[in-house]
Amino acid sequence: MHAWICDNPIGPEALTWKELPTPQPQPGEVRVAIRAASLNFPDLLIVQNKYQMKPPLPFVPGSEYAGVVDAVGVGVTHLKPGDAVAAFAGTGGFATHACVNAQLVLPLPAGFAFDDAAAFICTYGTSHHALIDRAQLKAGETVLVLGAAGGVGTAAIQIAKAAGARVIAAASSEEKCALCRDLGADATINYNTANLREELKSLTGGKGPDVVYDPVGGELAEPVFRSIAWRGRYLVIGFAQGSIPALPLNLALLKGASIVGVFWGDFARREPQRNAQALAELAGWYAQGRIKPVIDQRLPMQQLHQAFVRMGSRQVRGKLVLTND
Ligand SMILES: NC(=O)c1ccc[n+]([C@@H]2O[C@H](COP(=O)([O-])OP(=O)(O)OC[C@H]3O[C@@H](n4cnc5c(N)ncnc54)[C@H](OP(=O)(O)O)[C@@H]3O)[C@@H](O)[C@H]2O)c1
Repeated sequence: MHAWICDNPIGPEALTWKELPTPQPQPGEVRVAIRAASLNFPDLLIVQNKYQMKPPLPFVPGSEYAGVVDAVGVGVTHLKPGDAVAAFAGTGGFATHACVNAQLVLPLPAGFAFDDAAAFICTYGTSHHALIDRAQLKAGETVLVLGAAGGVGTAAIQIAKAAGARVIAAASSEEKCALCRDLGADATINYNTANLREELKSLTGGKGPDVVYDPVGGELAEPVFRSIAWRGRYLVIGFAQGSIPALPLNLALLKGASIVGVFWGDFARREPQRNAQALAELAGWYAQGRIKPVIDQRLPMQQLHQAFVRMGSRQVRGKLVLTND
């Protein structure tokens, strides 16, 4: 097997592509021949030693992938060689093969493409948990999605529309806004050129968005929170811009608004049955064509460095997928 190795977490440029002995699955594990892996923003943070989870060195990065089971460890009865699967395992995916705890593996329904499956669990799992579970989004409410053309952002647009909400998508360029409209966003705001607060006022008749989905953080947070509707829910998803904003709590009082934390990875660990229910609902929506990952580019696995440059420089629209063709 081959894998990208991180033995010095100073950034993606220090990763090396190495040949390794193909591992045998331990009891309770399966080995997956990886067909496609996707990039999530935490994959960038983890190889820079900036993520909350710090795996022991050396490790193989790549949180999420899809492929075919090619060996099964003792005690695994629900999976067999030849099964098509997807996994969100935190690490191991930027490789040709990975051994993974069988409980973290999702058997794929027929017709679920490997590229889509590799780009599905984290972004859709996060956005479903955020909007449906944490925000209790209702049909007819207005959702503002920031960083809306990125991985979790594109999933959030699709899920909010599937839930019957009105979506205002905000992003940093006209091209990104156009993609969001193609995905069903009812209105868009380019926050590099527009006055975000004025646009939100005019698009909501002065009321403000009921739910804000924020994977960006930084300087956008406070003006957006000032614009939120009465009983609004502000979803703290992440800080792609780099800085963690602080919000004046008097604004929460004045709007009767909630600041709602979202940590999908821990939700999946702490509440596996609820997460499984959510993923089953999402797989059903995928089969019905109501949601579909946006694939920005499909690159060979060996081009991981280029993929990380694209993500770090804010160019990705939807999801980047790396393949072992
Ligand atoms: N809470 C959870 O459970 C959870 C789960 C998954 C991901 N996340 C977090 O969600 C965030 C987005 O993840 P993702 O996988 O969707 O990433 P992504 O595809 O790269 O999207 C991030 C978006 O953030 C915006 N952005 C603003 N400043 C940026 C900068 N300096 N560098 C890169 N992007 C910047 C970009 O949109 P514009 O150019 O339009 O501004 C970009 O499209 C990350 O912070 C990640 O850690 C959280």
